[in-house]
Amino acid sequence: MSVTSNTDSLEKIVALAKRRGFIFPSSEIYGGLASCYDYGPLGAQLKRNIRDAWWRDMVLLRDDMVGLDASIIMHPRVWEASGHVSGFHDPMVECSQCGARFRQDKLDEGVPKCPKAKDGKHAYGETRMFNLMFRTNLGPVEDTANTIYLRPETAQGIFVNFGNVVDSTRVKIPFGIAQQGKAFRNEITTRHFTFRTCEFEQMEIEFFCKPGTDTEWYGYWRKERFDWFRRLGVNTERLRLRDHAKDELAHYSTACTDIEYLFPFGWSELEGIACRTDYDLKQHAQFSGKQLLWRDQTSGESYVPYVIEPSLGTDRSLLMFLVDSYSEDEVEGNPRTVLRLHPRLAPIKVAVFPLLRKDGHPEKAEEVYRMIREAYAATYDDSGNIGRRYRRQDEAGTPICVTIDHQTLTDDTVTVRNRDTLEQRRVKINGLLPEFRTLFG
Ligand code: GAP
Repeated sequence: MSVTSNTDSLEKIVALAKRRGFIFPSSEIYGGLASCYDYGPLGAQLKRNIRDAWWRDMVLLRDDMVGLDASIIMHPRVWEASGHVSGFHDPMVECSQCGARFRQDKLDEGVPKCPKAKDGKHAYGETRMFNLMFRTNLGPVEDTANTIYLRPETAQGIFVNFGNVVDSTRVKIPFGIAQQGKAFRNEITTRHFTFRTCEFEQMEIEFFCKPGTDTEWYGYWRKERFDWFRRLGVNTERLRLRDHAKDELAHYSTACTDIEYLFPFGWSELEGIACRTDYDLKQHAQFSGKQLLWRDQTSGESYVPYVIEPSLGTDRSLLMFLVDSYSEDEVEGNPRTVLRLHPRLAPIKVAVFPLLRKDGHPEKAEEVYRMIREAYAATYDDSGNIGRRYRRQDEAGTPICVTIDHQTLTDDTVTVRNRDTLEQRRVKINGLLPEFRTLFG
């Protein structure tokens, strides 16, 4: 078996995503909508598995983390306090030839030329600042008094609930609050498939610690978040930590690192880890008039905690997992495309095939399929020859295929085929679930 990685081709990922039902253009029958995408059957399950892996590892398996699910629509003052109303802007330029709009600070990144632009060159007008928040009205009357925003990050929902969480749980500093959910940004340029879109999901942690311990916790989260990707099988040669230079930092931030991935379009941010000091809690305390403090019961001390924030895009990580797991190889002289997704993330864990559609094969295969799907996401496939069925599952990233054949009917054994090693072994039907437990957990 020869293996070639093809992670340098985003087109191949886009084609596979459509062909196998991971990601479709949104509203495609109406011609699609720029930068909006829908997750198909395999994509929806993959996204769910990414969220579940993050939630389990960052919340359920930790004693110092609790979860939250705040409303997308929040009080408009939240965004004044956070600085988003006054400062969440991108510089925009418009081409006077073709009307296309671009982020002025991203013009060097190979902006595509348009045929209307003279000599293939855009003629840019003045740079204008453009607020990225989507604005709408709460209630039927369109009035500035009713103006609200779709949240541009999930983080602020955590800060405004700091007091509620402290009062309603037994958390002790240092502790974190974790949240997953939709965020919206009216991005001027959306490119590279699902990498930058206007509607996306985030998985964010605000980790509260005592001032003075923030450097230590920043170092911890920098390493822990990098290791999370490694544990999920991501090729660490395509993953790096990039510390922000002093002039890149927000005025309230003392340190920030991006975990970057080598996408087909170059090294790009996957996740940000920032030390936000006590800025957000102090801002919300000032704007709301409510104290947001940690009171240490033993020492009697009170202080505003510092915050370390690891912030990951769910959709962006899904794209990364597709790119990273994509490979092409040759099996017995035939080309194969395979997604080597980590077993925890694979949308389908096991595919069950009857070798024939007669002679008792389907009945036995359905029995095995029903047993497996009680415990693991499984699929049943009896169409086409066995080689075609393997290819379909390889492209879906299914780690295990189980085939029911003539021998099964006499000795209750099945063939178990491994996606990555291509090894095929005979296993007793009653030994399948214990074997899968070792593989999938
Ligand atoms: N609360 C901090 C915050 O939101 P950010 O760097 O703006 O920081 C964090 O966003 C992560 O959210 C990014 O690293 C990226 O994974 C994801 N993200 C941000 N904007 C996005 C967009 N327009 N489309 C998809 N993902 C995005």
